[in-house]
Amino acid sequence: MTKLWGGRFQKSAEAWVDEFGASIGFDQQLVMEDLEGSKAHVTMLGIQGILPQADVELILNGLQQLLVKAEADELEFTVANEDIHLNLEKMLIDLIGPVGGKLHTGRSRNDQVATDMHLFLKKRVAEVIGLIENFQKTLLQQAEQHVETIAPGYTHLQRAQPISFAHHLMAYFWMLERDKQRYSESLKRIDISPLGAGAMAGTTFPIDRLKSAELLGFADVYANSMDAVSDRDFIVEFLSNSSLLMAHLSRFAEEIILWSTDEFKFIELDDAFSTGSSIMPQKKNPDMAELIRGKSGRVYGNLMGLLTVLKGTPLTYNKDMQEDKEGMFDTVHTVLGALKIFEGMVATMTVNTERLHSAVHSDFSNATELADYLAAKGMPFREAHEVTGKLVFTCIQRGIYLLDLPLADMQKESLLIEEDIYTVLAPEAAVRRRNSLGGTGFEQVKIQLEKAKACLA
Ligand code: ARG
Repeated sequence: MTKLWGGRFQKSAEAWVDEFGASIGFDQQLVMEDLEGSKAHVTMLGIQGILPQADVELILNGLQQLLVKAEADELEFTVANEDIHLNLEKMLIDLIGPVGGKLHTGRSRNDQVATDMHLFLKKRVAEVIGLIENFQKTLLQQAEQHVETIAPGYTHLQRAQPISFAHHLMAYFWMLERDKQRYSESLKRIDISPLGAGAMAGTTFPIDRLKSAELLGFADVYANSMDAVSDRDFIVEFLSNSSLLMAHLSRFAEEIILWSTDEFKFIELDDAFSTGSSIMPQKKNPDMAELIRGKSGRVYGNLMGLLTVLKGTPLTYNKDMQEDKEGMFDTVHTVLGALKIFEGMVATMTVNTERLHSAVHSDFSNATELADYLAAKGMPFREAHEVTGKLVFTCIQRGIYLLDLPLADMQKESLLIEEDIYTVLAPEAAVRRRNSLGGTGFEQVKIQLEKAKACLA
C-alpha cells in the first residue's frame, strides 16, 4: 500500500517496521477530536477562500459520514496508515475521491495532533473535575452525619487526641478541593489552539487561526508556532495534577483499609465494594481501596515517563512525542475509575460509631487535656507536661486510664488538680473545647461544613 507521504520514497518499510512506528493502536481514541479539528480547519479554509466552497462542502460531508461511522464504531483502522490522522485522511479520500486530499492544505500532522490532544484533555479534565466534586458531596454528606461521632485522632499512627470523625473525613474534602483547583487552573493552558502552526513555522496560506480556534471553542491561540507544536507541558501538568490526586486517594485508601481491619473495626465496607477469598471463607477484603492505592504507582510512572521523554528533545516536533499518548490515556482512565469507585465506597460504608466511642474511651488521647488544664491554672506548660506524663505512667502500671485515677492520686503530683478534672478529661469535652479556628471542636466543624458547602455551591 502506498503511503500518503510516499512520493520521495523508492521502497516501503516492512510491515514490522510500520508496526513499530504506528500509533493507531492507541491514538484511535482521538478519533472524535481529530474529526472535529478537521471540520474546523476545512471550514476556515472555505471562509478564507483558500478552498472553493464546493470542495469544502464535499469534505465536510465526507467527514460527517466518518463521524457517523466512528460513533457506530464501524471504522476499520490499519497500521499501514500509521496513525489516526493518516487513517482518517485516507478514509476520506477513499470516500469522496481526490478532493479529500485538499483537507490537509495549510496544516501538518504536528499542529493536528497537538490540537487533538488539547481538545481531548479539555473534555476529560472537565469530567475529572465533575467526579471530584461528586466525591466531595458524598464526603460532606458522611461528615454531616458524624459531627458528634468522637474518634481517636492519630500522629505516628499512635493515638494522639480525640477528634470529631467528621473532621477527619473533611480533611480529605479539602485535599480534593485543592486538586479541583489545580485541574481548573490548568484548563487555562489546555484551552489554547495550536492549529495553524503547521509543521512548525506557520503557513504561506492566508489562514485565520482565530477563526479555527473559535470554531473549536478554544479561548486562545499559541503565540509561537514552534512552541505550539512542541509544547506538551499541558499533558505533564495533567499527569502531575493526577499524581497528587492519586496520592490523596491512596492515603485515604490506606486509612479505609486500616479502619476495615478487625484490629480497628472503625468502618465496614459495603459488600458491593469488597471481595472474598478463593480459599478463606471468612474473608472480606477491601480490594478496591488496595487497587486505588496501587494504581497511584502507574500514574506517577506516567508522569516520570513523559518528563523523561521530553527532556532531551530539540525544538520542535520529534517522533518521541508520540510517546505522550498512552500514559495520558491510561491516566485519564485510571483517575476517572478511581474517583468513581472511591465515591461509591465512601457513600455506602458503615461507620461503627460504638467502636469509635469505645476506642476513644480506652486510651490516653485525653492526656493533653490534663496538661492544658494545669497550664491554664498557671503552671508552665513544660512542667504540666511532666506532671501529666507521670500520671499516665502511674495509670499504665495499674492498667487503668486517666479517668479511672482517683483525685487523691492525681493531687500527689499537683494540688492544682481538682474535682472538675473528670469533666475536662471526658473525650467529648476534649473535642468540644478545641474551638480554635479550623480545630476539631463541634462548633468549628460545623463552620467548616458551611464553608465546604459554599465551595460546592
Ligand atoms: N502519530 C504522531 C504522534 O502522535 C502524529 C504526528 C506525526 N508527525 C510527524 N511529523 N511524524 O506524534
